[in-house]
Amino acid sequence: MSTPLIWFVFMNLSILLKPGYCTETSDQVLSITPQTQEQVDTLRNVSTHYETVLWQPVSNEYISTQVQVHLYVPGNSSVTVKAILQKHGITHKVLLANPNVLTEMQMKNDSTDPRSGSTFYERYHTLEEIYDWINRTAQDNPRTVKAILIGSSYEKRPLYVLKLSFNDRPNRKAMWIDCGIHAREWISPAFCLWFVHHIKRRWWRKNRSISKSGFCVGVDLNRNFDVDWGIKGSSQNPCEEINCGPFPESEPEAQAVANFLRRHKDTVQLYITIHSYSQMFIFPYSYTFDQAENHNDLLEMVQEAAQRIKRYYRNTYTYGPGAATLYPCSGGSDDWAYKLGIKYSFTFELQDRGEYGFLLPPSHISGACNEALLAVKTIAVKVLEKT
Ligand code: ARG
Ligand code: ZN
Repeated sequence: MSTPLIWFVFMNLSILLKPGYCTETSDQVLSITPQTQEQVDTLRNVSTHYETVLWQPVSNEYISTQVQVHLYVPGNSSVTVKAILQKHGITHKVLLANPNVLTEMQMKNDSTDPRSGSTFYERYHTLEEIYDWINRTAQDNPRTVKAILIGSSYEKRPLYVLKLSFNDRPNRKAMWIDCGIHAREWISPAFCLWFVHHIKRRWWRKNRSISKSGFCVGVDLNRNFDVDWGIKGSSQNPCEEINCGPFPESEPEAQAVANFLRRHKDTVQLYITIHSYSQMFIFPYSYTFDQAENHNDLLEMVQEAAQRIKRYYRNTYTYGPGAATLYPCSGGSDDWAYKLGIKYSFTFELQDRGEYGFLLPPSHISGACNEALLAVKTIAVKVLEKT
């Protein structure tokens, strides 16, 4: 019984330590800064006549005094190379004590390994995986991403261009990015994947305010209201989509709305904030799972709206209090308005349910709006009855 277990542990260790933990035999990357012309010549000589790979500079003619050289030294030439360096009084630092372990770890790339904890875009991928990704990305984003075959490599592998376009205006300006011209520069193709992933998600959500750090733009206005601000479902990080801003009502847009509603809170009976998408009618609370004091009234209103939409337009809307129906999150305008005293406060999430998502085609505008209109009317009539 215990034998397989011991084997298992041993094999894991052998992978981690391979090839050869003892520094004598493992490959290394050395950092060397030649001080004299003689040392420069020696390094040039070593890098051409011994089994080494110059990582930096790109070619040995660029080796010169006071310039850092990074030399990949395979285990089997380690002793010889170091002896030569020593003979010429050239000191070195070990930049990477065991690059093979790193290589292996990066090639392992096991997304099923729970310890890896990284996303697809935080790993390196084989060419096959990249081809798959190109196909999938083009298929999943038919309107914005196109894969264009522009030729093939010397070894007859297809070369694709991914064309990203976000509008159809004539004479658009274009930008070209290529990655992976040099095979060993793995981060380069990784960046191209990263970039496409990033840009195709660039559907702006926040306002345009510039954070203190100046690095990222935008505060999620629907996290910026003064209701349990910054606690749930929001982030202080300006780079995130749900950034709540530096303090409640820090943003001019949220402040303007809040000021207006504060001034008119005695007349405004019904607050509705329109969003998309998911076909949903949400009411307070989102910042807590507690029930709103007039929960039943609110529920009845959205239920009626959803039922009528179903009847007239055959479309399904879900509904309920935000925290339970959608997700808990604080700083939202609906909860804020409710707490200000506007007892009928709703978030509408219009069409669709993800078929086009944020790219709802113009031909769907009328349908989406008519449904929302019906919901507004239904709810407004009910509010009038209650107040
Ligand atoms: N999609 C909206 C958002 O995340 C839903 C808002 C619901 N209300 C709320 N207070 N979170 O901003
Ligand atoms: Zn929204």
